[in-house]
Amino acid sequence: MRVVTSIVEMQAESDRIRADGRRLALVPTMGSLHEGHLELVRSARRLADHVTVTIFVNPTQFGPGEDFERYPRDLGADLALLSGDAAADLVFAPTVSEMYPEPPLTWVDVERLPDRLCGARRPGHFRGVATVVAKLLSACRPHVAVFGLKDAQQFFVLRRMARDLNLGVELVGVDTVREPDGLALSSRNRYLAPEERTQAVVLSKAVFEARDRILAGETDVAGLERGMRDRIVSASLARIDYAEIVEAETLQPVTTVEPGTTVLAAVAAWFGTARLIDNRIVRAPG
Ligand code: PAJ
Repeated sequence: MRVVTSIVEMQAESDRIRADGRRLALVPTMGSLHEGHLELVRSARRLADHVTVTIFVNPTQFGPGEDFERYPRDLGADLALLSGDAAADLVFAPTVSEMYPEPPLTWVDVERLPDRLCGARRPGHFRGVATVVAKLLSACRPHVAVFGLKDAQQFFVLRRMARDLNLGVELVGVDTVREPDGLALSSRNRYLAPEERTQAVVLSKAVFEARDRILAGETDVAGLERGMRDRIVSASLARIDYAEIVEAETLQPVTTVEPGTTVLAAVAAWFGTARLIDNRIVRAPG
């Protein structure tokens, strides 16, 4: 497996692969890889002949006081994981100065979709995400890029960016990989103390309960949101951030889950210093 750190070299390598008529998939990550990331790599493998994984902890998507400095970094461990059954052909791991040699004057701002959920709590976060993913796409030039639906808002923002900017790349979303008790895998789970880890299961319980109630025909969003909220605050160590049901894709608020529509039940809460999120995309019956 080749490790490339230079954008120019990465572009030349991708151009060679494309010239051979091979299909290129990209899996962008911030490293600290776990089974969720590896599932994206396996999906990418099924969609293309060549899989590039990017590992870059992107400073522009972290707000002041967030965990950029202490975000776990271990390139050696990540490369070992990418040599197993979820093998990458190439890892693109640029430095911050390679990606941002000077403060950028050009940003990708997707409107409206970041206005709720995580975007409302983390000003500038999705601007940083959209900008770095646009840069990674132009460095790696894939035909298809694979993202996790654990970060559903991120996926909808990026898919809209790709469409609005005619980037010529297909974006594919992959279901969330979970621990046996339901907790979504996340690099930030490492921050959890044992009792916080035990209690963090309320996040997945909250969204699965909301899904079950919607599938059973419940339509009142306020009641569904109250249910998710109550489940989260039943954990003594949880500090709830949000528990919301929004229209999928547009991420706009709804008051009723109309039959046949698709909604996103999404939650976020702090456990100690870790801010964790979870969600389910649910299609209402009818
Ligand atoms: P990171 O948090 O490292 O996640 C990389 C990719 O893995 C994202 O598409 C994310 O949704 C997916 N992922 C994380 N946990 C998952 C799980 N339990 N199951 C399935 N997929 C999971 O998301 C980012 O990095 C960054 O914002 C990035 C897109 C790389 C831009 O910097």
